[in-house]
Amino acid sequence: MMQIAVIGAGYVGLTTAACLAEIGHEVSCAESNVQKLELLKRGALPFFEPHLEELVQRNRQAGRLSFTSTPEAIARSHAIFICVGTPPLENGEADLTAIEGVARTIAQQATGYRLVIEKSTVPVQTGRQLQRHLRLYRRAEFTYDVASNPEFLREGSAVEDFFHPDRIVIGVESPNAANAMREIYEPILEQQFACPVHASCEDRSVPPLVITDINSAELVKHASNSFLAMKISFINLIADLCEAAGADITKVAEGIGLDRRIGASFLRPGIGFGGFCFPKDLQAFVRIGERLGLDFSLLREVEKINLRRVDQFVEKVRRELWVLRGKKIGIWGLAFKPDTDDIRFAPSLAIIQRLLAEGADVSAYDPQAMTKAKEELPEIRYCQNPYEAVEGAEALLLLTEWEEFGHADLERVRRLMDRPLLVDGRNMLAREKVIAHGFQYIGIGQSAEVGAVALA
Ligand SMILES: NC(=O)c1ccc[n+]([C@@H]2O[C@H](COP(=O)([O-])OP(=O)(O)OC[C@H]3O[C@@H](n4cnc5c(N)ncnc54)[C@H](O)[C@@H]3O)[C@@H](O)[C@H]2O)c1
Repeated sequence: MMQIAVIGAGYVGLTTAACLAEIGHEVSCAESNVQKLELLKRGALPFFEPHLEELVQRNRQAGRLSFTSTPEAIARSHAIFICVGTPPLENGEADLTAIEGVARTIAQQATGYRLVIEKSTVPVQTGRQLQRHLRLYRRAEFTYDVASNPEFLREGSAVEDFFHPDRIVIGVESPNAANAMREIYEPILEQQFACPVHASCEDRSVPPLVITDINSAELVKHASNSFLAMKISFINLIADLCEAAGADITKVAEGIGLDRRIGASFLRPGIGFGGFCFPKDLQAFVRIGERLGLDFSLLREVEKINLRRVDQFVEKVRRELWVLRGKKIGIWGLAFKPDTDDIRFAPSLAIIQRLLAEGADVSAYDPQAMTKAKEELPEIRYCQNPYEAVEGAEALLLLTEWEEFGHADLERVRRLMDRPLLVDGRNMLAREKVIAHGFQYIGIGQSAEVGAVALA
């Protein structure tokens, strides 16, 4: 058992804190946002993430997890995980203000030895800056090691990803730091825990541990996200080609993905990637690559393709509805992906903003993200359920593939709409099924010609 501080109680920090407590560590989680901290101290969560609430409750009650201020968490702990945000600056570089702030607080508050662990996603060489900063601002009695431990969790399955990661990557430059990191993750590496997600979990596979230097660990994270973003933009480009040439992206993606060298994941076309990771990490990776003198135009293109998705999707809607002014449009899904309430950089918001700019009348429903969306987009109508969102609508746009939408009563939806037009931005619903219910269906990368042949 180790005394651990987690700084920043966001999607990554709170998950990390609760899961580390669950595997037996004593965790002090610090949050600088006073409202969030108060909420956490009262036992409530500032965001939605499956299974996290019960984990937080259980470990608070067991006395292994507490919420406090940053200086107090630092004072109590041997290891400090930095999990603060690294949002994009205007020029796309990562804004490291919060990281710098935490480093300075650690240097000024800590006494004795501390292991300082970067978990936030940061550009390569941030660890070096961190070491320098800790040295410059430290008090005499403070010694430290720095480690990088990039986080790969996916919102919506964050708890599961902590317990069953594909790999654990650790960047260290001293045996002390390596040993301490191994000790922290020992229950995961030795599969000695009761899985909090599946009561009868039989997955006992041991995740590979990748130990490397700090720069390389930092690079693993940016390179992984950029590669996945590249896969998404690639399949979106091929989807456009399917529409232009008369082919079906679903089949093309299936055919590509069955090649084991490629794999089927991230080959789903749609309205583009969003969220707090891919868009900003891709941009930051391009900027650091160029700053170090490399030509990163490959990844610039990935970004460009993604930005075009929103315009192309709105154009599809415009082609059908002709004039958008005054048209009632129903939206299913606001979160950047299902099973989260996160709307940061969600393509749905960009699409709605375009529709509003052209005078459309928008009603939306999302199972989890409406509270957050209301702050960003107060001018649309928020509905209690998917059916209310389509009343009198001339088009239904499916923008997030929540499981709930797959079970919707399409007969009822059609009857409620003024015009049964369904534009599926995620290719979630089966085209033939939707058409059989009397809808006009427009998906991504599915040429109408091919559909007609398949149906004939
Ligand atoms: N969200 C994800 O899916 C995900 C996955 C992997 C990695 N990451 C990376 O992890 C980092 C955090 O992401 P997130 O989604 O959790 O962000 P977030 O915005 O949800 O959480 C960051 C939290 O840190 C708090 N904070 C900022 N400065 C602080 C300080 N000095 N002391 C205490 N708290 C402070 C903020 O108030 C906020 O609550 C980012 O670098 C992100 O790129 C995110």
